[in-house]
Amino acid sequence: MPITTVDNLASLRRIVEDGEDDLVLVGADADLDLALELAAESRVTHPCVGVILLRRRVDSAVLRDALRAGVREVVNGDDLAGLREACERSLEVSRKFRELTGSVHVAEQREGKVVTVFAAKGGTGKTTISTNLAAALSRAGQRVCLFDLDLAFGDVSIVLQLQPSRTVADVVSLSRIDEAAVRSLVTPYNDTLDVIAAPLVPGQYEQIEPRHVTDLLTVAKRLYDVVIVDSPPAFTEYVLAAFDQTDDFLLLATLDVPALKNLKLTMETLDLLAYPRDRWHVVLNRADAHVGLLPSDVEQTLNMKIAAHVPSSRAVPDAVNRGVPVLIDKPKHAVSAAVTALAATLVSNVAVPERKRLRLRVRQSVGATA
Ligand SMILES: Nc1ncnc2c1ncn2[C@@H]1O[C@H](COP(=O)(O)OP(=O)(O)OP(=O)(O)O)[C@@H](O)[C@H]1O
Ligand SMILES: [Mg+2]
Repeated sequence: MPITTVDNLASLRRIVEDGEDDLVLVGADADLDLALELAAESRVTHPCVGVILLRRRVDSAVLRDALRAGVREVVNGDDLAGLREACERSLEVSRKFRELTGSVHVAEQREGKVVTVFAAKGGTGKTTISTNLAAALSRAGQRVCLFDLDLAFGDVSIVLQLQPSRTVADVVSLSRIDEAAVRSLVTPYNDTLDVIAAPLVPGQYEQIEPRHVTDLLTVAKRLYDVVIVDSPPAFTEYVLAAFDQTDDFLLLATLDVPALKNLKLTMETLDLLAYPRDRWHVVLNRADAHVGLLPSDVEQTLNMKIAAHVPSSRAVPDAVNRGVPVLIDKPKHAVSAAVTALAATLVSNVAVPERKRLRLRVRQSVGATA
């Protein structure tokens, strides 16, 4: 095991800070107060690091002060066998500690992600994309929560033909927003998809505060793999609260100048709010509409690649009229394939649709023969 020797506290602090070493041996002649100061500090800032104190004489006063400061062991400077054992014990404690804190990390990493679907212009397809994306992720076995944050005019419940007995408006009567509270608010669509419905009566949302949105999302992230937020076409204070919790922004565009202008303004606002661009994904809805603008014009104007092209199809309103997202009604439809491919870019374990795989394979074989 590599050993680094230092002769002052500042260098030792730097080494502890690096986090590479798990054991500090303080020499028998080193200043006791400085050694105790370091132990007390690293116990809080780097609890994996063990400090062992060597002393010429080990008396009860030194032992007491050392233990109070968080020194793991005090060993007589001449007792080499005792020192070896103390080092082994301390390294074992550090190993277990690292395992434990490692598993805490894993638990933290398992927190779900929040995906917000937004466009500052109405009617661009936010609800269509949110509901189908939720269906795609749920079909892939993800635990999904779809939060209808269009508090005044939300229509997720209608699109999915749900009859919620509780909605987000009930959040105001909760004394605490914990996991049980979130579970009590959702309306299940199927085994892996729950919906937090918008209030059924317009105006009922006025009691809701932005902090409720923050708390609901914070807790929902712990319960679900993905929380999808469908939003109103405006930067409301609720939307801004959701943005703060958002991992991925799906910014909807359509091939018309007003939608493009609004998206450009949205991007400028997101820039001002300092949400990093690598979390933005432009989704072009009705991407095949022949209206003069081309997808390449959109990319040029926005200076950003389009992450997903969702075609226009009658199957979308038809499915809505039947109360089933097109993704469930017709999973192989081009709209469903585009949304599933989008889902795969957001969450790694979603299978890429057959259609796309086929195209990739064809391209590869063309490449191979060229
Ligand atoms: N790809 C598509 N092909 C055909 N119709 C579509 C498509 N996307 C959306 N639509 C239709 O366009 C209309 C508006 O879509 P949607 O409700 O999803 O937009 P929105 O952005 O949520 O609107 P709002 O701002 O009012 O909430 C709906 O009737 C929907 O069925
Ligand atoms: Mg909508």
